[in-house]
Amino acid sequence: MIVTIVGAQLGDEGKGGIVDAFGAAADIVVRYQGGDNAGHTVVHDGEEYKLSLVPSGAVRDKINVLGNGCVVNPATLFDEIDALRERGLDPDVRVSERAHVIFPYHRLFDGIEEEAKESLAAGTTKRGIGPTYEDKAARRGVRVGDLIAPETLRERLSYVVEQKRDIAASVYGIDPGDALDFDAVLAEYEGYAARLQEEEMVVDGGAFLERHLADGADLMFEGAQGTSLDIDHGIYPYVTSSNSSAGGACTGTGLGPTIVGSGEVIGIVKGYLSRVGTGPLPTELGGVEGHTPGYVENEGEHEELASYIRDEGGEYGTVTGRARRVGWLDMPMLRHAARVNGFTGVVVNHLDVLAGLDEVKVGHTYELDGADQPTMPPTTERWGECEPVYRTFDGWPAVDWDSVAREGYEALPEGAKTYVSYIAEELGVEVFAVGVGPSRDHTVIRKHPFEDA
Ligand code: IMP
Repeated sequence: MIVTIVGAQLGDEGKGGIVDAFGAAADIVVRYQGGDNAGHTVVHDGEEYKLSLVPSGAVRDKINVLGNGCVVNPATLFDEIDALRERGLDPDVRVSERAHVIFPYHRLFDGIEEEAKESLAAGTTKRGIGPTYEDKAARRGVRVGDLIAPETLRERLSYVVEQKRDIAASVYGIDPGDALDFDAVLAEYEGYAARLQEEEMVVDGGAFLERHLADGADLMFEGAQGTSLDIDHGIYPYVTSSNSSAGGACTGTGLGPTIVGSGEVIGIVKGYLSRVGTGPLPTELGGVEGHTPGYVENEGEHEELASYIRDEGGEYGTVTGRARRVGWLDMPMLRHAARVNGFTGVVVNHLDVLAGLDEVKVGHTYELDGADQPTMPPTTERWGECEPVYRTFDGWPAVDWDSVAREGYEALPEGAKTYVSYIAEELGVEVFAVGVGPSRDHTVIRKHPFEDA
């Protein structure tokens, strides 16, 4: 069976914890898109692990696969594997031969272009994600299969390094430096190729998964980022460069839609919104300097509430440490996500963060041009013109979440249950679990996608 986990909002919905909770019953955890831009925090046996590339299953005894839809920075890959080994784990990570490789010049260009774009900048993680997908689409990328074929690597790099040097010098007027030194890049990457082969990490991803599936393995597909960051369905141009929605699980693993769709597609919803990067955010509370359009510190409403949620929720980037923007739950965004992904269920996370507030609001619909709008408009500019129409729910108290987690869903405070039921009913899906804290033990499972299937 296959369970696909997708972020329903803007990333950072707590997918890592859910992948860990449900994935404990899986045999293989697969990432199908993105690269080391994903900040996954997994708490296991009281230890906290921060991963940006390696699938969350690496902290358990799972096989982990980076599918062909991923972009892989081998330096990060080995850093994360080595760090896990130093902590006594023995991660089994495989990389698809068709996945694309991130080079130092991709990071260089991510930084240069973000600066040049000014107000159009997406506030990227500067990990070279966009430039690597650009090279993939432009058919000048280097795949993992090319990386481990010395002649192909040399040939591809000799073209692409020259091309990037020209662009760096003639378009941006910068000295390309080491990131574009052909010999240095080649030597570094030949080293990675050798290690990938020594450790027998390279696989034909789709065929590998098909084989295991036929042998009865349970697979968990771990989406990174969120649906509103999807290159097609997100708030373009403030998006990442891959399909983070469930369709990406097909193209990015090598297993087709009927196979992926035969299992569950579970949307991970955070009980409020958080956002890294620039662009509009209709239900935003307060603001963050440099990210919230037109933000003037302490002049907006709800600064205190925003700080409370940010601090309670630890809303600071896993990868970058940046303060995230926060806002009330945006139901039109979730309706959009439910359609794009074909959710069969949801998990609602971070209910503990909202505990203690007198009331909790939700942007139930938008008002746009005087009309009621139940879902997101296709352009981000129009989204910025949307005025949320709020519904107000009674808050719920902070309770002993450990005991709620032990006793199960029915032990949740009434207000929290009402809130979760509202979300599930609006989306017409089942609630698989709720999250009431950071660790796996704080995931209150109502229906287990593998065990109760
Ligand atoms: P990139 O993926 O680094 O190109 O960044 C593109 C946009 O996606 C930026 O707004 C990032 O802040 C956002 N982004 C990328 N990865 C994540 C994530 O894991 N969580 C939240 N936002 C992300």
